[in-house]
Amino acid sequence: MINRPLFFANWKMNHGPSEARAYLAAFLNFFAPHDDRTVAMFPPALSLTTVRDTRANRTDILLGVQNIHSQEKGAFTGENSAPMAHDAGARLVLVGHSERRHVFGETNVEAASKTALASRFGLTPVLCVGETLAQREMGDAERVVIEQLTVGINQIGPAAVAAIVIAYEPVWAIGTGHTATPDDASAMHRVIRTTLRELAGNGSDRAPILYGGSVNRANAKTLLEVEGVDGLLVGGASLDPEGWAEICRT
Ligand code: PGA
Repeated sequence: MINRPLFFANWKMNHGPSEARAYLAAFLNFFAPHDDRTVAMFPPALSLTTVRDTRANRTDILLGVQNIHSQEKGAFTGENSAPMAHDAGARLVLVGHSERRHVFGETNVEAASKTALASRFGLTPVLCVGETLAQREMGDAERVVIEQLTVGINQIGPAAVAAIVIAYEPVWAIGTGHTATPDDASAMHRVIRTTLRELAGNGSDRAPILYGGSVNRANAKTLLEVEGVDGLLVGGASLDPEGWAEICRT
């Protein structure tokens, strides 16, 4: 059950099982259950079952993984699959995060396969899109984002599109302390919404569109008030349980 606004925490390669257990215990103290929003944590895969067990009956906190392989199973040393992630308690998965694309060379076509596989195995894909600084400076930002989106959802039908989450994360805003201005964010969110409607019909209005990139306690409210922003995907500022709880209460 996804209620807006959404608050998604991407821990990246931080908080192994011992730290994750302490983090979650603290977070649950700082954050009471709310049914007017959706909170999800994306710990490293190695910490997922610890977070799941520490969460105990606080199932208002959803769990996700940061990546899956594009195939269901097989000889892919070091990888995790959609059905394994689901079995371990994940209900969401980040697909095509900027670090997957730009550090690990992941393509739009791979993102599309992962989106389709996730949908098939009961994981809600959180398809991440966003342009680099060079692309923005060349006036190419919209074209890049539209292409990431168009290819990213082209292996699933309109009903599945309505059940995904999109995250707009300009690459130049991730981990840099520079957020998009409210005008830039709202312009790109409008482009994404229009593109989704063209590709998958008005039912796609059910798919929330998150903003991500240097969100913190000080700017969360402003960004959440931007027209078209349905929630936040947060990296660095989600690593401290008290600060993250404050953002989740925005
Ligand atoms: P950041 O990361 O909040 O640290 O900029 C966001 C993300 O990569 O999802």
